Amino acid sequence: MSVSAPLGNSNSGTKSGKEQGTQATSKTTHFGFKDVPEYEKEELVREVFSSVAKSYDVMNDVMSFGIHRLWKDQFVAKLDPGRRPGGEPLSILDVAGGTGDIAFRMLDWASDIHNDHQSKVLVVDINDDMLKEGHKRSLTTRYADGSRIEFKVQNAEFLDAVPDNSQDLYTVAFGIRNFTNIPAALRAAHRILKPGGVFACLEFSKVNVGILDMIYQQYSFNIIPLMGQLVAADRDSYQYLVESIARFPSQKEFAGMIKDAGFEISGEGYEDLTFGVAAIHTGVKV
Ligand SMILES: C[S@@+](CC[C@H](N)C(=O)[O-])C[C@H]1O[C@@H](n2cnc3c(N)ncnc32)[C@H](O)[C@@H]1O
Repeated sequence: MSVSAPLGNSNSGTKSGKEQGTQATSKTTHFGFKDVPEYEKEELVREVFSSVAKSYDVMNDVMSFGIHRLWKDQFVAKLDPGRRPGGEPLSILDVAGGTGDIAFRMLDWASDIHNDHQSKVLVVDINDDMLKEGHKRSLTTRYADGSRIEFKVQNAEFLDAVPDNSQDLYTVAFGIRNFTNIPAALRAAHRILKPGGVFACLEFSKVNVGILDMIYQQYSFNIIPLMGQLVAADRDSYQYLVESIARFPSQKEFAGMIKDAGFEISGEGYEDLTFGVAAIHTGVKV
């Protein structure tokens, strides 16, 4: 398995937002329902995901009754990644890729649907504990030799190890709501994509049926933190997760942010999944 440095030292592979100087101001942002100085959020988010890393995959299944798998399958099917006859293999960047759920699905799709055994995924994340779980998983797959998947610590707001105009596809699943500066991350996505490259985001969103939204809010705030406590002995991290979902912009607002970063969107630019519990947003760098 090829693992680009650094796994094992979250400070050596990429500068933090604080180090890059863009967040060392007195500005505040939200961390769940709390207001915190902008420069503190990255570390708080890192702590959450270090705390949940080992139980992350199991908890995803428990909390969503396995539905996150269907959403991820739908996301990958919509993107249909893979080399086309006569074309070049794809360079795919999976941002906030964590334990690699999206990356493995994309490689499986490219291999099984397009008979493409060359396209590659670079999985980046600020949290090397999550990446380590992904790396461990990769060793049990057909990608264990590391020629098609790499893991690297990177902050999505900078992507300082990813060259301009270098990627065919940028994916981010259930990651972007945790970023301190979402517009900066969208600009970084635009910078690293080739012209014609596709930005794709799968994220929790706003439920579009009133009664279902009421049930969903009850479930989110009363049951999920309790499950976090019982299954992962970590109520606080799961309380943050539900609060961060509630704070994320609506489908329309987020589509506007994608447009503002320079992407062309087609139609409304998004597709709701399960009545808007999650949504897929896409944009193209023209
Ligand atoms: C809910 S997990 C999603 C993991 C994976 N994409 C999936 O769908 O299973 C969110 C991930 O976002 C990462 N993350 C949060 N802020 C980030 C940032 N600024 N840059 C890169 N990754 C970040 C976290 O470390 C965590 O691994």
